[in-house]
Amino acid sequence: MIVSTERPSPVATARRPSVVFVAADPSGVARIVIDRPDDAVNAINVMLLEDLATAIAAAREARPRGLVVASGKESQFVAGADLALLRGASAADAERASREMQRVLNELAALPFTTVAAINGPALGGGLEIALACDVRLIADAPGARVGLTETRLGLIPAAGGTQRLPRLVGLPRALEMILTARQLAPRRALKAGVVDEVVHPAVLLRASSEHAAHDRKRKPSGGRTLIERTATHLAPLRALAIRSARSRTLAETKGRYPAPLAAIDAVAIGLARGMTAGLEAEARAFGTLAAGETGRNLTALLALTLRQRRAAFEGLGDPRPVTNVGVVGLGFMGSGIAQAAAAAGLRVRARDRDAAAVAKGLSTIRELTTEGARKGVFDRREAARVIGRVTGGPDLAGFSHADLVIEAVFEEIDTKRRVIAELEKALREDAVIASNTSALPIAEIARDARAPERIVGMHFFSPVHKMPLLEIIRPKRADPSAVATAVATANALGKTPIVVGDGPGFYTTRVLSTMIGEAFAMLAEGIDVEAIDRAMTAFGWPVGPLRLVDEVGLEPAAHAGETVAKARGIGAPTLVNALVAEGFKGKQRGGGFYLYDGKRRRPNPRVRAIAGDTHGVVVEDIAQRLTFMLVNEATRCLEEAVLRSPAEGDLGAVLGFGFPPFLGGPFRYADANRHEIVSTLERFAAAHGAHLEPTESLRSRRPFFSL
Ligand code: NAI
Repeated sequence: MIVSTERPSPVATARRPSVVFVAADPSGVARIVIDRPDDAVNAINVMLLEDLATAIAAAREARPRGLVVASGKESQFVAGADLALLRGASAADAERASREMQRVLNELAALPFTTVAAINGPALGGGLEIALACDVRLIADAPGARVGLTETRLGLIPAAGGTQRLPRLVGLPRALEMILTARQLAPRRALKAGVVDEVVHPAVLLRASSEHAAHDRKRKPSGGRTLIERTATHLAPLRALAIRSARSRTLAETKGRYPAPLAAIDAVAIGLARGMTAGLEAEARAFGTLAAGETGRNLTALLALTLRQRRAAFEGLGDPRPVTNVGVVGLGFMGSGIAQAAAAAGLRVRARDRDAAAVAKGLSTIRELTTEGARKGVFDRREAARVIGRVTGGPDLAGFSHADLVIEAVFEEIDTKRRVIAELEKALREDAVIASNTSALPIAEIARDARAPERIVGMHFFSPVHKMPLLEIIRPKRADPSAVATAVATANALGKTPIVVGDGPGFYTTRVLSTMIGEAFAMLAEGIDVEAIDRAMTAFGWPVGPLRLVDEVGLEPAAHAGETVAKARGIGAPTLVNALVAEGFKGKQRGGGFYLYDGKRRRPNPRVRAIAGDTHGVVVEDIAQRLTFMLVNEATRCLEEAVLRSPAEGDLGAVLGFGFPPFLGGPFRYADANRHEIVSTLERFAAAHGAHLEPTESLRSRRPFFSL
C-alpha cells in the first residue's frame, strides 16, 4: 500500500479566541475582554463560553488586585445567547447548556478579588447575567446601552443564574418585574433600579471601571435598596405574598398559554427559599423543558427569522440608494408618526400638509411623541431636542428637492394620492424614491399616471408607528429593484423589520386581515354575537378580537380596505359595516362601533343585532378556528400567488403586523404543525358556509412550508 506523504497541509486552525485575559496593569487591575471574532454582537456560543472559562481560570491564577470584564466591540457588550445554540436542542441538551453557563459564571462570581463589568452597549439575557456575576457594574451613558433579562419574550427563562442573582441584587419585586416583562432598561433607569452602580461617560468607562476594581471591596448584594424591597425579598411571609400576586397576575395575563413566566417565578421563589444551589437547579431544569417545548421553539424561531430578515429582505433587490433626507406628505396621524420615527433614526425630515394649521398640528404631535419617548427613557433629553430639531414643515413642497425618499401619507383616496404623486414628480430629484403608505390601494393604481413609475413603491407602516415593529414594503411589477432596496434599507434604519411583498389590493397583511374580518362580519349575519366572536378569538390567543380591532381602526377605513380586497378576490363586500357608519357609528373614538364606549367600559352595540337580524340558535364553538384557519388559508394563497416571497415573511408579517398569536409561530409554522386538522376543518366549514373556505392546494399538499 502506498501512502502519500504529500498530504495537503491542514488549513491554519489557530483561531482567535472570543475572550482573552489581559494581565494586570501597573495599578494591579487585570482585564477580561469579550470579543467574538465572527459575531458583531458577542452572542454567547459554546466557544465563547469555553474561552470565558479559560480567561476566568487565568485571572484566578494571576490573582490581580481587581478585574474588569469588558467588551472588545465598540458599543456592544454581550447581546445574549446565540440562538443557534438552541436549534434542534433536546430538553437534556438545553439543560446541560444552562448548567455549563451557570458553572462558568459561578466561577466568575467566586473570584477572590473585586470584579467590575464595564457595560458599553446592550447587555441582555446571558450578557446581563455575566455582568450580574461581577461585584460592580458600570454602564456607559450611550444611546444603545441597555440592560435586561429578555428571555421570557422567547418563551424561555434566564438560565445562567439570572433568576437568582437579579433578585438578590435589586430585590424580589423589581427582579420579577424585569424578568416577567423582559424590559430593557436604559442607563439611568438601570441605575435607579439598582441593576448598575454608576452611569459614566462612554469615554471614561474603562478608566472608571479600573478604579472601582482597584479600590472597591468585594460586597454581598443586599436584596434591594429600600427596606420594603429587602423585606419583600428576605422575609418569608412577605415574599410569599409577592410571589403569589406575581403568579396570579401572570396567569391572568398569559391565560396559561405562556409557560415561561410562571417557570421564572418558580425558580426565583425556590432560590430565595432554599438557597442558590436549589434555585440554579430549578432554573436549569425549567430552561431545558421550555427550550424543547412548542412555545419556546416557536418564539425562538420567530426571533431567528427577525434577526435574519434585516439582510434577507434584500434578496433579489438591487443596491439601496443612500437616504439622509426624507420628505413626508400628509402630516396626519400616520405621517407625523412616520416623520418622528425617521427623525429618531437620525434622518432629516421635511414635511408638508395642506395648510399651516395642519402642519403645526403634525409638528406638535411629533414633539409630544418625542417628549414621551424621553420620559420613558427611549432617548435622553438632549437627543430628544435633536430629534425634534430634525423635522421642519410647511404647506408646500419647498425643500423637497433635497429629499432622497418621500413617503406620502395623505387620505386614502386614489385621486388625492395620484395628485400628490404628480406634484412630487415636479418637485423631486430624478433619483428620489417615492413611497406610498396606503393601507390597501394597489401601488400600480396610485402610480398609474406617473412619468416614472419605476421609482414608486409602497411602505406600509402600522399604527402606532413608534411602537409597531413591522414595515411592509410593496414591490410593484414596474418598480426598479434599487428603489425597493432603498425602502428596505430605510426600514432597517428606522429599526423596523421589513418584509417585501407583491403589489395588489391589500398586499399581504391587509389582505389576510380583511378577509378574516369579512368572515367575522359573515358570522354576525349568521346570528353570532359580537362579544362571542371577540371572546373566542382572545381565548385562542389573539391580542384583541376582530370587531374590537375594527372599532379601534375606525369603521370607515376598515370598510374601505375590506371592499378593496373583497372586490379583487370576487367576494361580496360586507354591508353591515356600511349600515353602521350610515347611522353614525364610526369607531371607538367616533360615536362607537360594534361596541358602545363609556369611559373604560364597553358594551355591545344593540344596533348590530338589529341590523344583522335575529339569532336563530347558532352553533358557536368553531368561531376561533373558522377565523384563524381561514386567515392561515388566505396566507397560503398569498404564497401561491407570489404576493409573499417566503413563508418566513408571511409569519413575520402576521405576528409583527397584526398580532397573530406569537406562541403559535405564525400562520405557516402553525400550518406545518397542524396541517391535517386545518385542512379537514376547513373542508367541513366550506361545506357548511361556502366555497371561500376551501383549503388551498398548498395546504392540502403534504409539503411543509419550512424544512426544519
Ligand atoms: P389622517 O387623516 O390622520 O392624515 C392625512 C393627512 O393628510 C391630513 O393631515 C391631511 O391634511 C393631509 N393631506 C390630505 N391631502 C393632502 C395633500 N394633497 N397634500 C398634503 N397633505 C394632505 O390619515 P391617516 O390615518 O394618517 O392615514 C394616512 C394614510 O395612511 C392613508 O393612506 C391610510 O390608509 C394609511 N394608513 C393608515 C393607518 C392607520 O391606522 N390610520 C395604518 C396604515 C396606513
